[in-house]
Amino acid sequence: MAEPKVFITRRIAQEALDMIEQATEMEIWPEELPPSYKVLLEKATDVEGLLTLLTDRIDSALMDAAPELKVVSNLAVGYDNIDISEATKRGIVVGNTPGVLTETTADLAFALLMATARRLAEADNYTRKGLWKTWGPGVLLGQDIHNATLGIVGLGRIGAEVARRARGFNMKVLYHDTRRLSRRKERQLGVEYVSGLPKLLSDSDFISLHVPFTNQTRHLISSDEFAVMKPTAILINTSRGSIVDQKALYEALKLGQIFAAGLDVTEIEPIPPDDPLLTLDNVIILPHIGSASFATRRNMALMAAENLLAGLRNEIPPNCVNPEALWD
Ligand code: DGY
Repeated sequence: MAEPKVFITRRIAQEALDMIEQATEMEIWPEELPPSYKVLLEKATDVEGLLTLLTDRIDSALMDAAPELKVVSNLAVGYDNIDISEATKRGIVVGNTPGVLTETTADLAFALLMATARRLAEADNYTRKGLWKTWGPGVLLGQDIHNATLGIVGLGRIGAEVARRARGFNMKVLYHDTRRLSRRKERQLGVEYVSGLPKLLSDSDFISLHVPFTNQTRHLISSDEFAVMKPTAILINTSRGSIVDQKALYEALKLGQIFAAGLDVTEIEPIPPDDPLLTLDNVIILPHIGSASFATRRNMALMAAENLLAGLRNEIPPNCVNPEALWD
Protein backbone atom coordinates (compact mmCIF):
# COMPACT_ATOMS: atom_id res chain seq x y z
CA MET A 1 0.00 0.00 0.00
CA ALA A 2 1.29 3.48 -0.84
CA GLU A 3 2.56 5.49 2.08
CA PRO A 4 0.53 8.59 2.98
CA LYS A 5 1.87 11.88 1.71
CA VAL A 6 2.69 14.60 4.22
CA PHE A 7 4.02 18.13 3.96
CA ILE A 8 6.17 19.55 6.75
CA THR A 9 6.35 23.32 6.62
CA ARG A 10 9.84 23.70 8.13
CA ARG A 11 12.83 21.53 9.03
CA ILE A 12 12.36 20.24 12.60
CA ALA A 13 14.46 17.96 14.85
CA GLN A 14 15.96 15.11 12.82
CA GLU A 15 14.70 12.41 15.22
CA ALA A 16 11.15 13.53 14.55
CA LEU A 17 11.73 13.60 10.81
CA ASP A 18 13.18 10.07 10.99
CA MET A 19 10.01 8.85 12.71
CA ILE A 20 7.84 10.47 10.06
CA GLU A 21 9.97 9.26 7.18
CA GLN A 22 9.54 5.61 8.22
CA ALA A 23 5.79 5.76 7.75
CA THR A 24 5.15 8.38 5.10
CA GLU A 25 6.20 9.96 1.87
CA MET A 26 7.24 13.30 3.28
CA GLU A 27 8.20 16.59 1.79
CA ILE A 28 9.90 19.24 3.92
CA TRP A 29 9.83 22.93 3.08
CA PRO A 30 13.57 23.61 2.99
CA GLU A 31 13.62 27.36 3.56
CA GLU A 32 13.98 29.43 6.71
CA LEU A 33 10.99 31.60 5.86
CA PRO A 34 7.56 29.93 5.84
CA PRO A 35 5.95 28.81 2.59
CA SER A 36 3.55 31.47 1.29
CA TYR A 37 -0.15 30.74 1.65
CA LYS A 38 -0.27 30.06 -2.10
CA VAL A 39 2.51 27.48 -1.85
CA LEU A 40 0.84 25.91 1.17
CA LEU A 41 -2.39 25.60 -0.81
CA GLU A 42 -0.56 23.85 -3.62
CA LYS A 43 1.31 21.52 -1.31
CA ALA A 44 -1.85 20.62 0.59
CA THR A 45 -3.79 19.41 -2.47
CA ASP A 46 -2.74 15.76 -2.29
CA VAL A 47 -1.49 15.24 1.27
CA GLU A 48 -3.10 13.35 4.15
CA GLY A 49 -1.09 15.16 6.79
CA LEU A 50 0.38 18.58 7.41
CA LEU A 51 2.93 19.41 10.08
CA THR A 52 2.65 23.14 10.59
CA LEU A 53 4.05 26.02 12.63
CA LEU A 54 2.17 28.96 14.11
CA THR A 55 3.16 31.02 11.06
CA ASP A 56 1.10 28.81 8.72
CA ARG A 57 -2.54 29.80 8.21
CA ILE A 58 -4.77 26.75 7.90
CA ASP A 59 -8.24 28.02 7.04
CA SER A 60 -11.36 26.64 5.37
CA ALA A 61 -10.15 27.51 1.83
CA LEU A 62 -6.98 25.55 2.42
CA MET A 63 -8.93 22.60 3.79
CA ASP A 64 -11.23 22.73 0.74
CA ALA A 65 -8.16 22.48 -1.46
CA ALA A 66 -6.97 19.41 0.48
CA PRO A 67 -9.62 16.69 0.10
CA GLU A 68 -7.31 13.94 1.44
CA LEU A 69 -6.31 15.85 4.58
CA LYS A 70 -6.81 13.86 7.81
CA VAL A 71 -4.53 15.57 10.29
CA VAL A 72 -2.87 18.90 10.97
CA SER A 73 -0.15 18.65 13.58
CA ASN A 74 0.89 22.06 14.86
CA LEU A 75 4.32 22.47 16.42
CA ALA A 76 3.03 24.76 19.18
CA VAL A 77 0.68 24.66 22.12
CA GLY A 78 -1.30 27.57 20.63
CA TYR A 79 -3.37 26.84 17.53
CA ASP A 80 -4.99 30.16 16.64
CA ASN A 81 -3.47 29.80 13.14
CA ILE A 82 -5.88 26.93 12.46
CA ASP A 83 -9.64 27.16 12.00
CA ILE A 84 -10.57 24.37 14.42
CA SER A 85 -14.32 24.34 13.82
CA GLU A 86 -13.78 24.03 10.05
CA ALA A 87 -11.30 21.20 10.64
CA THR A 88 -13.76 19.41 12.92
CA LYS A 89 -16.57 19.71 10.36
CA ARG A 90 -14.34 17.97 7.83
CA GLY A 91 -13.18 15.22 10.21
CA ILE A 92 -9.63 16.61 10.29
CA VAL A 93 -7.93 16.14 13.65
CA VAL A 94 -5.62 18.87 14.93
CA GLY A 95 -2.71 18.15 17.24
CA ASN A 96 -0.69 20.54 19.40
CA THR A 97 2.26 20.30 21.81
CA PRO A 98 1.14 21.14 25.36
CA GLY A 99 3.11 20.33 28.52
CA VAL A 100 6.60 19.96 27.05
CA LEU A 101 7.07 23.71 26.68
CA THR A 102 5.39 24.84 29.90
CA GLU A 103 8.47 25.31 32.06
CA THR A 104 10.63 26.72 29.26
CA THR A 105 8.01 29.35 28.49
CA ALA A 106 7.52 30.15 32.17
CA ASP A 107 11.30 30.57 32.50
CA LEU A 108 11.23 33.09 29.68
CA ALA A 109 8.28 34.99 31.14
CA PHE A 110 10.19 35.28 34.40
CA ALA A 111 13.38 36.27 32.59
CA LEU A 112 11.45 39.07 30.86
CA LEU A 113 9.94 40.13 34.18
CA MET A 114 13.39 40.42 35.74
CA ALA A 115 14.98 42.03 32.70
CA THR A 116 12.33 44.75 32.45
CA ALA A 117 12.22 45.40 36.21
CA ARG A 118 15.99 45.85 36.39
CA ARG A 119 16.37 47.39 32.92
CA LEU A 120 18.91 44.81 31.74
CA ALA A 121 18.72 45.56 28.01
CA GLU A 122 19.11 49.29 28.64
CA ALA A 123 21.97 48.69 31.06
CA ASP A 124 23.81 46.46 28.60
CA ASN A 125 23.42 49.10 25.89
CA TYR A 126 24.64 51.78 28.29
CA THR A 127 27.81 49.77 28.91
CA ARG A 128 28.43 49.02 25.24
CA LYS A 129 27.90 52.65 24.24
CA GLY A 130 30.62 53.78 26.68
CA LEU A 131 28.14 55.69 28.85
CA TRP A 132 29.36 53.99 32.05
CA LYS A 133 31.55 56.71 33.59
CA THR A 134 31.16 55.95 37.28
CA TRP A 135 28.98 54.23 39.87
CA GLY A 136 26.06 56.61 40.31
CA PRO A 137 23.37 56.57 43.00
CA GLY A 138 20.66 57.37 40.47
CA VAL A 139 21.87 55.37 37.49
CA LEU A 140 19.44 52.95 35.83
CA LEU A 141 17.15 52.50 38.79
CA GLY A 142 14.49 49.87 38.42
CA GLN A 143 11.76 48.09 40.36
CA ASP A 144 12.21 45.44 43.03
CA ILE A 145 10.97 41.98 42.22
CA HIS A 146 11.14 40.42 45.68
CA ASN A 147 8.07 41.09 47.84
CA ALA A 148 6.22 42.65 44.89
CA THR A 149 2.74 41.61 43.73
CA LEU A 150 2.42 39.61 40.55
CA GLY A 151 -0.95 39.45 38.78
CA ILE A 152 -1.35 36.49 36.47
CA VAL A 153 -4.04 36.68 33.81
CA GLY A 154 -4.91 33.09 32.86
CA LEU A 155 -3.75 30.50 35.34
CA GLY A 156 -3.29 27.49 33.07
CA ARG A 157 -0.19 25.36 32.84
CA ILE A 158 2.25 28.18 32.03
CA GLY A 159 0.62 30.70 34.37
CA ALA A 160 0.90 28.20 37.23
CA GLU A 161 4.61 27.69 36.56
CA VAL A 162 5.17 31.45 36.55
CA ALA A 163 3.40 31.55 39.92
CA ARG A 164 5.74 28.86 41.30
CA ARG A 165 8.78 30.84 40.18
CA ALA A 166 7.38 34.01 41.77
CA ARG A 167 7.08 32.31 45.14
CA GLY A 168 10.86 31.86 45.14
CA PHE A 169 11.07 35.66 45.10
CA ASN A 170 8.61 35.97 47.95
CA MET A 171 6.10 37.64 45.66
CA LYS A 172 2.40 37.84 46.43
CA VAL A 173 0.63 36.16 43.52
CA LEU A 174 -2.87 37.14 42.40
CA TYR A 175 -4.65 35.59 39.46
CA HIS A 176 -7.66 36.25 37.31
CA ASP A 177 -9.24 33.66 35.04
CA THR A 178 -12.64 32.83 33.63
CA ARG A 179 -12.61 29.78 35.91
CA ARG A 180 -11.48 29.73 39.50
CA LEU A 181 -9.22 26.87 40.66
CA SER A 182 -10.19 24.69 43.60
CA ARG A 183 -9.25 26.19 46.99
CA ARG A 184 -6.85 23.25 47.49
CA LYS A 185 -5.06 24.02 44.21
CA GLU A 186 -4.92 27.72 45.10
CA ARG A 187 -3.28 26.88 48.44
CA GLN A 188 -0.87 24.51 46.75
CA LEU A 189 0.22 27.19 44.26
CA GLY A 190 0.08 29.98 46.84
CA VAL A 191 -2.17 32.13 44.67
CA GLU A 192 -5.13 34.37 45.44
CA TYR A 193 -8.11 34.68 43.08
CA VAL A 194 -9.31 38.13 42.00
CA SER A 195 -12.67 38.01 40.25
CA GLY A 196 -12.41 41.30 38.31
CA LEU A 197 -9.64 42.01 35.82
CA PRO A 198 -9.47 45.77 36.66
CA LYS A 199 -8.89 44.98 40.35
CA LEU A 200 -6.09 42.54 39.49
CA LEU A 201 -4.51 45.14 37.21
CA SER A 202 -4.70 47.94 39.75
CA ASP A 203 -3.30 45.83 42.60
CA SER A 204 -0.35 44.32 40.75
CA ASP A 205 3.23 45.49 40.34
CA PHE A 206 3.79 42.96 37.55
CA ILE A 207 1.13 41.60 35.20
CA SER A 208 1.85 38.48 33.18
CA LEU A 209 -0.51 37.32 30.42
CA HIS A 210 -1.13 33.60 29.87
CA VAL A 211 -4.44 33.37 28.00
CA PRO A 212 -4.94 31.85 24.55
CA PHE A 213 -5.77 34.16 21.66
CA THR A 214 -9.49 34.06 20.82
CA ASN A 215 -12.13 36.61 19.77
CA GLN A 216 -12.76 37.19 23.48
CA THR A 217 -9.12 37.89 24.39
CA ARG A 218 -8.30 40.17 21.44
CA HIS A 219 -7.12 43.50 22.93
CA LEU A 220 -7.96 42.28 26.42
CA ILE A 221 -5.39 44.84 27.53
CA SER A 222 -6.08 48.25 26.01
CA SER A 223 -6.26 51.91 27.12
CA ASP A 224 -8.91 51.32 29.81
CA GLU A 225 -6.78 48.59 31.32
CA PHE A 226 -3.57 50.68 31.22
CA ALA A 227 -5.48 53.50 32.90
CA VAL A 228 -6.00 51.45 36.06
CA MET A 229 -2.45 50.09 36.30
CA LYS A 230 0.14 51.56 38.67
CA PRO A 231 2.67 53.96 37.08
CA THR A 232 5.31 51.53 38.34
CA ALA A 233 3.61 48.50 36.78
CA ILE A 234 5.32 46.17 34.34
CA LEU A 235 3.41 44.17 31.72
CA ILE A 236 4.76 40.84 30.46
CA ASN A 237 3.29 39.11 27.41
CA THR A 238 4.51 35.68 26.32
CA SER A 239 1.17 34.44 24.96
CA ARG A 240 -0.04 36.08 21.73
CA GLY A 241 0.61 39.64 20.56
CA SER A 242 -2.97 40.61 19.78
CA ILE A 243 -4.06 40.13 23.39
CA VAL A 244 -2.50 43.56 23.94
CA ASP A 245 -3.59 46.61 21.95
CA GLN A 246 -0.12 47.63 20.85
CA LYS A 247 -1.04 51.24 20.02
CA ALA A 248 -2.46 51.66 23.51
CA LEU A 249 0.66 50.03 24.96
CA TYR A 250 2.86 52.50 23.10
CA GLU A 251 0.89 55.43 24.55
CA ALA A 252 0.97 53.96 28.07
CA LEU A 253 4.74 53.43 27.93
CA LYS A 254 5.41 56.84 26.39
CA LEU A 255 3.21 58.72 28.83
CA GLY A 256 4.62 56.85 31.81
CA GLN A 257 1.24 55.35 32.60
CA ILE A 258 3.18 52.13 33.27
CA PHE A 259 6.89 51.63 33.94
CA ALA A 260 7.82 49.04 31.32
CA ALA A 261 6.76 46.07 29.23
CA GLY A 262 8.42 42.82 28.26
CA LEU A 263 7.07 41.20 25.11
CA ASP A 264 7.91 37.89 23.50
CA VAL A 265 5.05 38.34 21.03
CA THR A 266 3.72 41.25 18.97
CA GLU A 267 0.56 41.98 17.00
CA ILE A 268 2.43 41.59 13.73
CA GLU A 269 5.31 39.13 13.75
CA PRO A 270 8.04 39.98 13.02
CA ILE A 271 7.38 43.49 14.37
CA PRO A 272 7.85 45.98 11.48
CA PRO A 273 11.14 47.88 11.87
CA ASP A 274 9.28 51.23 11.86
CA ASP A 275 6.92 50.26 14.69
CA PRO A 276 6.95 53.13 17.23
CA LEU A 277 7.39 50.68 20.11
CA LEU A 278 10.93 50.10 18.90
CA THR A 279 11.77 53.74 19.67
CA LEU A 280 11.14 53.29 23.39
CA ASP A 281 13.72 52.28 26.00
CA ASN A 282 11.21 50.92 28.47
CA VAL A 283 10.15 47.93 26.43
CA ILE A 284 12.02 44.72 25.69
CA ILE A 285 10.84 42.89 22.58
CA LEU A 286 11.93 39.34 21.84
CA PRO A 287 11.30 37.40 18.60
CA HIS A 288 8.78 34.87 20.01
CA ILE A 289 11.34 32.59 21.68
CA GLY A 290 9.28 31.39 24.68
CA SER A 291 9.79 27.70 23.91
CA ALA A 292 13.18 28.09 22.25
CA SER A 293 15.45 25.77 24.20
CA PHE A 294 17.22 22.85 22.50
CA ALA A 295 15.51 20.25 24.68
CA THR A 296 12.04 21.73 24.41
CA ARG A 297 12.08 22.22 20.65
CA ARG A 298 13.20 18.58 20.30
CA ASN A 299 10.38 17.40 22.56
CA MET A 300 7.86 19.53 20.68
CA ALA A 301 9.02 18.01 17.39
CA LEU A 302 8.70 14.45 18.72
CA MET A 303 5.24 15.19 20.06
CA ALA A 304 4.18 16.77 16.77
CA ALA A 305 5.48 13.70 14.89
CA GLU A 306 3.47 11.36 17.16
CA ASN A 307 0.35 13.46 16.67
CA LEU A 308 0.82 13.45 12.91
CA LEU A 309 1.38 9.69 12.67
CA ALA A 310 -1.62 8.90 14.87
CA GLY A 311 -3.86 11.10 12.72
CA LEU A 312 -2.66 9.35 9.58
CA ARG A 313 -3.64 6.01 11.17
CA ASN A 314 -7.15 7.46 11.69
CA GLU A 315 -6.54 7.58 15.46
CA ILE A 316 -7.11 10.50 17.78
CA PRO A 317 -3.62 12.02 18.28
CA PRO A 318 -2.24 11.80 21.84
CA ASN A 319 -2.52 15.61 22.06
CA CYS A 320 -5.57 16.55 20.08
CA VAL A 321 -7.53 19.80 20.35
CA ASN A 322 -10.62 18.48 18.51
CA PRO A 323 -11.10 14.75 19.22
CA GLU A 324 -14.76 15.25 18.29
CA ALA A 325 -13.61 15.39 14.66
CA LEU A 326 -13.45 11.58 14.76
CA TRP A 327 -16.55 10.96 16.86
CA ASP A 328 -19.41 9.28 14.99
C1 DGY B 1 3.27 28.04 21.31
O1 DGY B 1 3.65 26.87 21.46
O2 DGY B 1 2.09 28.35 21.13
C2 DGY B 1 4.32 29.09 21.36
O3 DGY B 1 3.88 30.34 21.08
C3 DGY B 1 5.56 28.71 20.57
O4 DGY B 1 6.17 27.72 21.30
